[in-house]
Amino acid sequence: MSIPIVRTVAELRQTVVAWRREGLRVAVVPTMGALHEGHLGLVRTALDRADRVIVTLFVNPKQFNNPADLAAYPRTEHEDAAKLAPLGAHLLYAPFASEMYPDGFATTVSVAGVSEALCGAFRPGHFDGVATVVAKLFLQTGADLALFGEKDFQQLHVVRRMARDLDIPIEIVACPTVREEDGLAMSSRNARLSRSERQVAPKLAAILFEAAARIADGAPVDATLDEARSAIATAGYARIEYLELRAKEDLAPLQTLDRPGRLLVAAWLGETRLIDNVEVPSQPGIMTRTAA
Ligand code: PAF
Repeated sequence: MSIPIVRTVAELRQTVVAWRREGLRVAVVPTMGALHEGHLGLVRTALDRADRVIVTLFVNPKQFNNPADLAAYPRTEHEDAAKLAPLGAHLLYAPFASEMYPDGFATTVSVAGVSEALCGAFRPGHFDGVATVVAKLFLQTGADLALFGEKDFQQLHVVRRMARDLDIPIEIVACPTVREEDGLAMSSRNARLSRSERQVAPKLAAILFEAAARIADGAPVDATLDEARSAIATAGYARIEYLELRAKEDLAPLQTLDRPGRLLVAAWLGETRLIDNVEVPSQPGIMTRTAA
């Protein structure tokens, strides 16, 4: 069993046009490969909700602000294709870089506001790169729906805003973060952790869930976040880029929990940057852990 792979927009469109003639509903799952259970969960949800599922695999150079990070990003197309085939995904679109960004490519999609804080403040240009490539993938595939993980919560907001602003007729479906048994959010970057870092890594999620529960129970936001920052540092994380409470709906900063919130963090463990986020319901007692 194998999954067909296409590398050009022309081949992709030919396939999608044939599906459309049959009246089939098409989903796209954008990825950069190194697929893990989180990605495979998106594919399973896509298969439940659409007749045909395209998985895209493109390590997008425009969203890496650090060349070393781009060079170190895992490239495992063969293994990725082998994981997708048994699920029943219909097409792997793994374009050449020259197909995505041909000579003379000069357009950037930039989403103001929601791209600017949190990861955007620490990774200049990152969300421009994401918005540009995702807009292209939406237009190239012409999919009816696209699936994204909540692990990249800010990315989800950027993509929604971009699709709405550009009138791209696609439904964006958000899927809960998938976690390892010890709570660590699944990420292609986890593979870079040393054995000892891997033991420390899940403490980030544990601290996040505890802080979220305390804030949901009425603890003061600033003091709780300060304590959580100390706990993250004590656990062994070298540098915290941000730990912030934001509104779930529009990512506006929250000083008090006057509407549903999201607690978001980015921190470095050795040479690896990890991000995570959890919900903070504004009514006490209704918090659910989104662990797998
Ligand atoms: O989340 C990712 O893997 C990437 O940012 C995406 C959405 C595939 C765009 O390159």
